[in-house]
Amino acid sequence: MKFFLDTANLAQIQEAHDLGILDGITTNPSLMAKEGITGEAAVINHYRTICEIVDGDVSAEVFSTDFDSIIAEGKKLAAIHPNIVVKVPIIKDGVKAMKWFTDNGIRTNCTLVFSAGQAILCAKAGAAYVSPFVGRIDDSGWDGVQLVEQIRHIYDVQGFKTQILAASIRNPNHIIRCAEAGADVCTSPLEHILGLLNHPLTDSGLAKFIADTKKSGMTLG
Ligand code: G3P
Repeated sequence: MKFFLDTANLAQIQEAHDLGILDGITTNPSLMAKEGITGEAAVINHYRTICEIVDGDVSAEVFSTDFDSIIAEGKKLAAIHPNIVVKVPIIKDGVKAMKWFTDNGIRTNCTLVFSAGQAILCAKAGAAYVSPFVGRIDDSGWDGVQLVEQIRHIYDVQGFKTQILAASIRNPNHIIRCAEAGADVCTSPLEHILGLLNHPLTDSGLAKFIADTKKSGMTLG
């Protein structure tokens, strides 16, 4: 399973990149706004900077909801860098636009996916990625990981090539469960990726090893 970071924050992107396990980035209009990125020039410049840091796919979301505007916006985004993947919402014009992008060699990430039916439409439109929103489904009292499992099953049975990108990750356990469910990619805030490190027995075990090293005077220096 690939690890994407779900952020537009350059410091966090650099930190995850330096860790050596970063495979890509996803953003959305809310995450861009959080970083104070507004206006076409600033948006384009920010995506270019992200692409210079990360050697992997970078999802850049369109703001429009009608076919012609989605196409115009997506073309501009795709022209920024070969690693840009145009993120399109699962609406009627979005499906039509994703098919157009697929036919014209532009890769897409279908976003705001909350059902298996929506995921089938993404695959039919040739999306490179489908993004089920695991956390938001959990928030509404359903099981987000169960949707990832269902999409995995459907895509395997039907031979759909669209990659399942589990999004809206709320905790480290979501990452583990999405890996079990067969997600191709998990996009998460950095804190939940770092949360995978935590175990109290690791902390106490390491403290003892360090204490014993000091006691014995062992050194390789
Ligand atoms: O980028 C889409 C998705 O990951 C959003 O997550 O936390 O706003 O539900 P969240």
